[in-house]
Amino acid sequence: MIICANFKANHTRKSTQKYLNELQSLQSKHQIMLFPPNTALMQNDFSHVSIGVQNFYPVQNGSFTGEIAKEQIDEFNIKCVLIGHSERRHILNENDELIKAKFDFAKKQNWEIIFCIGESLHVRKSGKDELFLYLQNQLNGIDLTYQNLIIAYEPVWAIGTGQVATKEDINEVLEFLKTLTKAPLLYGGSVNAKNVKETFSLPTCDGVLVGTASLEANKFKQIIQKAN
Ligand code: PGA
Repeated sequence: MIICANFKANHTRKSTQKYLNELQSLQSKHQIMLFPPNTALMQNDFSHVSIGVQNFYPVQNGSFTGEIAKEQIDEFNIKCVLIGHSERRHILNENDELIKAKFDFAKKQNWEIIFCIGESLHVRKSGKDELFLYLQNQLNGIDLTYQNLIIAYEPVWAIGTGQVATKEDINEVLEFLKTLTKAPLLYGGSVNAKNVKETFSLPTCDGVLVGTASLEANKFKQIIQKAN
């Protein structure tokens, strides 16, 4: 399983270091990834936990106020990026063009990409055809055969709301995505230690992307243990 913690704008460098130390003792055959805020990026020497960036601007370096680019990412030997998270799409107004530019840039670096897609409640209520079309459009222009691609299905209405999608909801989307790509598929949206077992049990599911329930190392460890 691939189990990812997305800290968003939470945690400091000090608390991230403490968190990593708590994960150090963990024995896990699973692939664990941590996405701290940029101020807490660090080189990680534990082989079972990799650190990634939540965002980047798709250039080597340059005049892009407030952004970080490849030069800063390389400093920490980071090779893993999140692209297309719904908060960046909807709150920070990232459009498909920028998202695709980020994908192409990250692919050129051979970085591992967690590419997020997901529908709003409005789309979800429009029926299955609309839903699948919407998700497929979010993947337009993305090389679905890229070997370091992971896709995270995160319905917007389930992110940070405590409203987790049912296993049927998740499975039908992941089944659909499996017809488009061989990339591993994650589910994200109010995942926690109580509901994750059901998600892990889906044959289509290769892991989870966790926000709120990943913020405490203890709770995140419980999620990892459920995969064992
Ligand atoms: P959540 O966030 O677990 O708090 O719903 C998931 C995400 O945004 O990746």
